[in-house]
Amino acid sequence: MYNMTGFVDLCVKELVLCGVHEGETVAVLSQGDERMEYADAFLAAARKLGANAFQVRLPDVSGSLLGDSGAWVVGETPLGRNRPAIEALKLADIVIDLMFLLFSKEQIEIQESGTRMLLCVEPVDNLARLFPTADQRRRVEASEELLGKAKSLRFTNKAGTDVVYQLGTYPVMTEYGFVDEPGRWDHWPAGFLFTGGADDGVDGKVVVDRGDIIVTPFKIFVEDPMEITIEHGQIVDIRGGFTAELMRDYIAAFDDPKAYGIAHIGWGCNEKARWSGLANDRRSVGMESRCFYGNTLFSTGPNQELGGTNDTGCHIDIPMRNCSLFLDDEPILIDGEFQIEDLKAPRPQFAPPSLVR
Ligand SMILES: [Fe+2]
Repeated sequence: MYNMTGFVDLCVKELVLCGVHEGETVAVLSQGDERMEYADAFLAAARKLGANAFQVRLPDVSGSLLGDSGAWVVGETPLGRNRPAIEALKLADIVIDLMFLLFSKEQIEIQESGTRMLLCVEPVDNLARLFPTADQRRRVEASEELLGKAKSLRFTNKAGTDVVYQLGTYPVMTEYGFVDEPGRWDHWPAGFLFTGGADDGVDGKVVVDRGDIIVTPFKIFVEDPMEITIEHGQIVDIRGGFTAELMRDYIAAFDDPKAYGIAHIGWGCNEKARWSGLANDRRSVGMESRCFYGNTLFSTGPNQELGGTNDTGCHIDIPMRNCSLFLDDEPILIDGEFQIEDLKAPRPQFAPPSLVR
């Protein structure tokens, strides 16, 4: 539940986190009649902060966004065919993306001009409930430092996962929910980080367990374990029951060897996000599932967002619970619990003591 005044106030708080101030220019990008109330709220919020503001509204609508009304196909957007609109957005200090430019060439071009970008497409109550904080940024950046200097990442779970990533080829990317640095991109809400293993440097077995989430592209909780065997950075086998059958068929449909690559690996830091969130709310593009506190986010397919060459359209994100994750054999997570003091956040616990695990 929200009202327009409350939403404008929320956008003001977000723009303040993004460092928007008097004299800056905020551009809002939307398509068709989508998220018009978001555009109005951001424009009003920008004006409240004394910033200049304008909206770019595209007449063509991309149906690419993950949701119950669209398939998960990314990279091609209506903005790519509209040169004057791209040029206008590059003139702003910050672009609020209300359509979904991620994985597109035009997003990179806008960032490279020094314009920072904030993606905002989640339901308003998720924006409020998972609202970013400076402390979340601190924990994501503390995580980034640990991940950035590690040479290897290994993660395990009780279902039988044991896989090792050779690190150092690709940078670490952080998402903490706001952008106050030139050229930076982020997504409101967020709270996770990731990197990628060397192209031929991921080996082992990932056993996706009951309760883990295949958020992209299925938005499902896994009910029967699925065993994925990885050799030299490629999926060579997927075994199990129904879920494994779904995965095999989905990946095979791309008819592309690159669809069997391994994408990013990292963990979730947002203590306000719930593992169970997807069970009662399917409107989201899955940020709550990707960022819930202590998850290990295992992903297959493309790595071009990290600077790699795998550009397959087959991207699968699987946040996994209760994993143990080690950097150069130092434990970061044991059974889904952070082991490093700097990464821990107090979490709300409203359950009776006997139900708190
Ligand atoms: Fe992903």
